[in-house]
Amino acid sequence: MKKLGLVGWRGMVGSVLMERMQQENDFAQFDVTFFTTSQAGQLGPDLAGDAKPLLSATDVASLAQMDIIITCQGGDYTKSVYPDLRGSGWNGFWIDAASALRMEDDSIIVLDPVNKDVITQGLEHGVKTFVGGNCTVSLMLLALGGLFEQDLIEWVSPMTYQAASGAGARNMKELIAQMGAIHQSVAELVDDPNSAILEIDKIVSETIAGDDLPTSQFGAPLAGSLIPWIDVPMPSGQSKEEWKAQVEANKILGTSKQPIPVDGLCVRIGAMRCHSQAMTIKLREDISVEKIEQILAQHNEWVKVIPNDRAQSVQDLSPVNVTGTLSIPVGRIRKLAMGPQYISAFTVGDQLLWGAAEPLRRMLRIIES
Ligand code: HSE
Repeated sequence: MKKLGLVGWRGMVGSVLMERMQQENDFAQFDVTFFTTSQAGQLGPDLAGDAKPLLSATDVASLAQMDIIITCQGGDYTKSVYPDLRGSGWNGFWIDAASALRMEDDSIIVLDPVNKDVITQGLEHGVKTFVGGNCTVSLMLLALGGLFEQDLIEWVSPMTYQAASGAGARNMKELIAQMGAIHQSVAELVDDPNSAILEIDKIVSETIAGDDLPTSQFGAPLAGSLIPWIDVPMPSGQSKEEWKAQVEANKILGTSKQPIPVDGLCVRIGAMRCHSQAMTIKLREDISVEKIEQILAQHNEWVKVIPNDRAQSVQDLSPVNVTGTLSIPVGRIRKLAMGPQYISAFTVGDQLLWGAAEPLRRMLRIIES
């Protein structure tokens, strides 16, 4: 039985990962050790049989005893520990949720329903570092996997509607706090059938713009508004989130030498944990919508094509419907006015499941098999 070390299992992504590993009985396949950055010596969880004391996540010698390490601890942890661990001669598998090692030449971005071949080849060539992709990239590739697999996409422009969870647990709380503050500012007026909406709107606008709205996490109001920039600026004028789309998508697909252009704007909206994306796609050829739907639907077991129908779109292409599930609905597929090779599509996915935890636990199973 391989020795598996878990780091960062208590945070938001780590907790979702633990839950999924329990559901899929992953713990039974490994001899599991839990690591901690702050509570070494304390008793660990009993998720994987008998609870054992936690080991220090910064103790390279203890980490080096593991055959596989999965970390959801974040990029700073990876940057501080990984070079020392590899430098010590450790040749185990490192599976990472953070972006720090994603673009390294000797790492592979894992999304096995899309790039199982890239992963298998990497394993054959001795690759030992596997990193989860950016959430929007993974969710887009799962939705459009069929078209990418058949090399039918000339370019794609994803415009994102990204949930608060992508920014972190504190940001989710701040979104709710903002919503609460806004409601509180007009609660009585909202309940009064005779109140004037423009008066309510004025108070709400003042509340959103006011100094008392909690904004320390997002740095701006999100509730009742949006934030059209995610992550730091790049020299290209893209935000880093936007820059990741093309480089990561092509690395996952194994097409980095002749990259498929993938570029659009990333926007934070007031959803909790599902990222949505509206995509403009230029196909390499004129294919019927029916055929496109067929190609998309056949690609993997999670993608679900939603007919371009009002009621079904409202119901099924909604974060409310997708949250907490592995489902990847894709719909609003229609030809655009720009020409027969241009189509639109809209997809939604849980940012913490397929967007973060799920590809990591599936990589574990691939190593084990
Ligand atoms: N960077 C993403 C976001 C989440 O801010 O929504 C992580 O992939």
